[in-house]
Amino acid sequence: MDSKNNSEIEAELKKLGYWNEIYSKQNYFGTGPTILAIEAQEIIKKNNISNILELGCGQGRDSLFFANLGCKVIGTDISENAINFVKQIKNKQNLENLELFVHDTLNPFTFKNSNFELVYSNLALQFFDLTQLSQIFSNIKKIMEPNSFFFFSTKKPGDKYFEFGNKISENSFEYNGITRFFFNKTELENILKNHFTIMSFEDDFHINPDETKSIWWKILVKN
Ligand SMILES: C[S@@+](CC[C@H](N)C(=O)[O-])C[C@H]1O[C@@H](n2cnc3c(N)ncnc32)[C@H](O)[C@@H]1O
Repeated sequence: MDSKNNSEIEAELKKLGYWNEIYSKQNYFGTGPTILAIEAQEIIKKNNISNILELGCGQGRDSLFFANLGCKVIGTDISENAINFVKQIKNKQNLENLELFVHDTLNPFTFKNSNFELVYSNLALQFFDLTQLSQIFSNIKKIMEPNSFFFFSTKKPGDKYFEFGNKISENSFEYNGITRFFFNKTELENILKNHFTIMSFEDDFHINPDETKSIWWKILVKN
């Protein structure tokens, strides 16, 4: 039974509407691979990785890149429009090694195979508070092979969406129905180390097509 109240349902629909509207345009965030995916390629090569899960794959720029490297890839996103867009490219490129699912990262993973050697996510985890992130990390750990990797980026204070829109708390801001969280290194390390071994924790940035600057944490952990 769904226990959401009316305002929660409304907020959920607004969020889905936001992402589906964005993804009514082609390659909204540009084409890949992203900076993070290029770094992931090194991890893939060095560790002979063949099974990858991407969370919040959007229009698939990185999932398509990994699939074209020959890896078996599952891409997930909350937006049906995004997933349908990637499915079209997958079919055009005949990528049988790429599977795509509409999935809310907050929900447990129910894949038949749960032997991922790399769980990857580029800028799709800043929508969750620390309690939710901790639950997500715990869910991810359950579907990872021993000695496998989780490589992700998430927004950092100073990013273009930091102190932008409605202030929800010291480290979260809402704009257009989307709340983004900006945690410091210690906050993230504290929950990550309950689940994983931290291999590297750095920051990085990119300049967007509209000249704004996105600043993010780049985190590699091992199961
Ligand atoms: C900034 S975009 C990044 C997309 C993609 N990783 C890329 O680099 O192009 C954030 C993505 O997170 C997805 N997203 C937001 N909330 C989500 C959730 N609860 N579950 C799954 N995906 C979510 C959005 O639909 C969007 O595709």
